Amino acid sequence: MKTIFSGIQPSGVITLGNYIGAMKQFVELQHDYNCYFCIVDQHAITVPQDRLALRKNIRSLAAFYLAVGIDPNKSTLFIQSEVPAHAQAGWILQCIAYIGELERMTQFKDKSAGKEAVSAGLLTYPPLMAADILLYSTDIVPVGEDQKQHIELTRDLAERFNKRYGDIFTIPEARIPKIGARIMSLTDPTKKMSKSDPNQKSYITLLDDAKTIEKKVKSAVTDSEGIIRYDKENKPGVSNLLTIYSILANEPIEQLEERYAGKGYGEFKADVAQVIIDTLAPIQQKYYDLMESSELDDILDEGAEKANRVASKMLKKMENAIGLGRKRR
Ligand code: AQP
Repeated sequence: MKTIFSGIQPSGVITLGNYIGAMKQFVELQHDYNCYFCIVDQHAITVPQDRLALRKNIRSLAAFYLAVGIDPNKSTLFIQSEVPAHAQAGWILQCIAYIGELERMTQFKDKSAGKEAVSAGLLTYPPLMAADILLYSTDIVPVGEDQKQHIELTRDLAERFNKRYGDIFTIPEARIPKIGARIMSLTDPTKKMSKSDPNQKSYITLLDDAKTIEKKVKSAVTDSEGIIRYDKENKPGVSNLLTIYSILANEPIEQLEERYAGKGYGEFKADVAQVIIDTLAPIQQKYYDLMESSELDDILDEGAEKANRVASKMLKKMENAIGLGRKRR
């Protein structure tokens, strides 16, 4: 069985973008792959986080993974900071990475733009992400399009390490969904939907109630043409709503364009909102049940134990290959 690894940051309540671009595929993939799903809390602290909110978001993200359909009997679900090998391997990979290539990462450029002080961790985030992936001899990393560049860097670092120290790492591949790889902001459809966007109207969280969803979709930026058709360049807002509708209702975009021919944005938006509400209602129900149960902590304990076993073996291999510490038997 091939291995899959993917992580999500507990940097806020997760969005419809995270669900469509990442989580939805995790659920489908877990039947055919050996899967590791991680709550990457060490990545979240590359930008300032409120301590109490972070704690809450970590637990909440674990509940979301399970609520959307991750089965702990099939997949390993764990918290990054509970597996110390990630930070240790991350350090080694930082020493393999070059500052120039890290500075070229678009996520670093976006998140550091206009800021007076930027943490060193924001720059060295990609080698830590590479460690997350490489520790598990991962074959495939299912992610949204924004993470493609980081996976390419992971491959470069793994190849560089293998060349210097011997064939230790499996070279992973990104798996990016054909549609829905980049769900856009509702208020600025030229930007991706992000959970840490300061404008709450720009995203739908998996916990938004029906009224909030209706309001946010109703006020989503579109255009003045009044025709419901897919044209990403000239009609990014309408195209984004068509993408969301198509994926959640499992209906091709062309079919939706035909159905809404001659109809107005008001009716279309009301239907988009309804499809989102119908998708999220059962997830929210499961989420609230899980948050109240002790099952969640048991699953995370077991996940950390299994991940620690696998990751510490790979870390030892890396250290031996480089010559760190004493030779271990
Ligand atoms: N808008 C999006 N459309 C499709 N996929 C998306 N992903 C994120 N936003 C979209 C995918 O979700 C996974 C988890 O992402 P992450 O939490 O590790 O970090 P991110 O990509 O930086 O996501 P956010 O929501 O934008 O977080 P913040 O605001 O904290 O930076 C990844 O697979 C990502 O591709």
